[in-house]
Amino acid sequence: MGVLTTRITDLFGIEHPIIQEGMGPYRTVELAAAVSNAGGLGTVSMPGMTQPPDTGARIMREHIEQMATLTSAPFAVNVPVGRDPSGTVLPVSEAYIKAVIAAREADGALASQLRVLTTSAGFPGEFRPLIADSGLLHMHKVGATAQARKAENAGVDVIIASGYEMGGHTHVKPMHTFVLVPNVTEAVSVPVVLSGGARDGRTLAAALALGAAGVAMGTRFIATRDNTSWHPAYAQKILAAQEGDDVVFPAVYGPARGLRNRGVQQLLDIVASGQLQGDELTQWKDERLIQAQSAGDVEDGLVPAGQVASAISELVAVAEFVPQMAREAAGILQQLVAGISPARLS
Ligand SMILES: Cc1cc2nc3c(=O)[nH]c(=O)nc-3n(C[C@H](O)[C@H](O)[C@H](O)COP(=O)(O)O)c2cc1C
Repeated sequence: MGVLTTRITDLFGIEHPIIQEGMGPYRTVELAAAVSNAGGLGTVSMPGMTQPPDTGARIMREHIEQMATLTSAPFAVNVPVGRDPSGTVLPVSEAYIKAVIAAREADGALASQLRVLTTSAGFPGEFRPLIADSGLLHMHKVGATAQARKAENAGVDVIIASGYEMGGHTHVKPMHTFVLVPNVTEAVSVPVVLSGGARDGRTLAAALALGAAGVAMGTRFIATRDNTSWHPAYAQKILAAQEGDDVVFPAVYGPARGLRNRGVQQLLDIVASGQLQGDELTQWKDERLIQAQSAGDVEDGLVPAGQVASAISELVAVAEFVPQMAREAAGILQQLVAGISPARLS
């Protein structure tokens, strides 16, 4: 048991209420294993939305199986749920959900570790019965209180409430973490996890004070020594970022937040001129995302990251960072409690 017990540490069987979220289309197997081994909940990311569903599902299955060789602790898998213009769930999203379930069905030991499916982007209402019957805990990421209510009504086990300052795909209607999270914790009774701007023990303590049961982070975990699948230039770009260096640009499902560079400017120019559209434009974006992460071209590639990049100035080792973050939060809470005069409370 860790220093902080919350509803999600109990539900997920983890030591610390700290989650590394999905960061597709990039590989996060090594990072996720480090987070799970450190007592948090690591997440295997989806490997891309533009490849054939069979190929995507095969890669995801491989990542899940590799993850199980690197940790014996609980972990999650993230599937963003896209829909076509008619409202049908994209074949690739469906293939990912089914790949997660198939991986569990094929291996009982793996199933006991792969406890959580985190869906994001759209809500996979039509897949709720399948997910519930599979025995997976279903966590769903939202950017608005109405979406949280809808997910809870559909039977979701945990809500991630992610504020507009988050890295990667963000929300069309900007709701910032400090307003969104208490709105959501008031509106639903399932556990809520704060996401968007978290980075240390102070932000974890603040999340708990807002009624959340833990935090989920993307950007902070990119700049770690354990993120070995990514080109080091990506983390260096985050370390160098200052306030105001982030920008929201049109990404695959909607707006995404990343670091301002030539790649973003080229994207804005292409969109404004209509030079590329539809699948061609999506393909261009996907290639630029990979260009930054795999080749380390953080000037012409696209570099998703949150506003919190401006507050991250050193690479950390996950094995030390995760328990230290929980201890720091617990210490802050203890100190705050010590300042309370019980006699004056009532
Ligand atoms: C590089 C990058 C890729 C991301 N890809 C995904 C993704 O595939 N699916 C998803 O649900 N969220 C994705 N996100 C969002 C994160 O899961 C998370 O919600 C966000 O990073 C939280 O905000 P923070 O960056 O302030 O910690 C991505 C974020 C980043 C920075």
